[in-house]
Amino acid sequence: MSDFSTPNKECIRRYYNKPIIRRLKEVYNCNIIYYGLPSPDAEDIAEWIEYISSVVAFQCRDYGNVSDPDQPTDEVDKLIEKLNSWEASGQIDNYIVYDGYMEEVLFKGYDNSASGSIDYTHDNHVTLFNLDFCNSITSPQEYITKEGDRISKYKLELIDKILEYQSKVSHQSDKFVLFLTVQASYNGADLHDYIEVNKKSLCKYNSFHRKKHFVLKHFIEDCLYNKIKAYNYIPQFMPTVFYKGIKDVDMMHFAVMCIRPLDSKKQGGIFVYNQLINDITNTLPLMPNPESEADKLINYLDIIEGMVHPNKNFMETFCQSRNVNTYWND
Ligand SMILES: C[S@@+](CC[C@H](N)C(=O)[O-])C[C@H]1O[C@@H](n2cnc3c(N)ncnc32)[C@H](O)[C@@H]1O
Repeated sequence: MSDFSTPNKECIRRYYNKPIIRRLKEVYNCNIIYYGLPSPDAEDIAEWIEYISSVVAFQCRDYGNVSDPDQPTDEVDKLIEKLNSWEASGQIDNYIVYDGYMEEVLFKGYDNSASGSIDYTHDNHVTLFNLDFCNSITSPQEYITKEGDRISKYKLELIDKILEYQSKVSHQSDKFVLFLTVQASYNGADLHDYIEVNKKSLCKYNSFHRKKHFVLKHFIEDCLYNKIKAYNYIPQFMPTVFYKGIKDVDMMHFAVMCIRPLDSKKQGGIFVYNQLINDITNTLPLMPNPESEADKLINYLDIIEGMVHPNKNFMETFCQSRNVNTYWND
């Protein structure tokens, strides 16, 4: 197992992510373009490779430090070698690895490759975003511009940028899934401002064990919901997953299925969002359960007033959802 794998993570990749990707690929007939943060061993891609056609990967050289041309490129090289071997054996059609933080590559428009920087392009509609971060949603990433200025970018700004690029190349009926993984950390000005403004709706969590986790879950779900809608996609959230990551750090994993609907699906001139934000935030999380043979995903252990447990068979719920019936089944 590599630095980034744990039994919980493997369980999520196989029993939570994989059925979603399989559905996208087989039922909706999409070529799966993976876009995200695979790590040098690319264990996520290895788990899903039977469904993946091409890979757009970002790998920083020295995680935690601002990119610098003097840093060794071992991590980037290892990932390139791995993807190269899959391309050579025909398991994927092609790949690109951007050397640098995703934030710096997208906002600067080019990467740090030693052999001459690669310009960032987003020409194809991506079907699978795997934003598998090592830190919290509110941790900014710093980078140095061409002019030598030090800039900070937040993950929510990055997600906005990704959706902006994606929406420019999207056509009607295009579908994608967005996976987002972050640490369950509560610090950050954005989050505290949000709590201040939304005190009333968040006070229901005051009596909860793990109150802060639920506030953070609510914040992230609300931000993703609004951003996705702002770029004219219809989001359908899968149940969020809470789990223990490396060194027992509390982590959260989100999955949202998105579609750019056909104009003909408008009702009275507008698109109806059948899954409401309250339905999403009032749904309790699932948890991985790798030790069990039969039950690889289980419900959150507490019962909380006003919140509901999701169906552990989340693909069944997805398939029966109004959004799928209205927008996904042509
Ligand atoms: C959590 S690991 C990915 C694990 C992988 N998705 C899997 O399931 O096997 C994140 C990887 O991306 C790198 N990384 C983290 N944040 C990044 C960012 N903002 N831009 C580029 N690389 C990043 C880390 O160095 C690490 O290799």
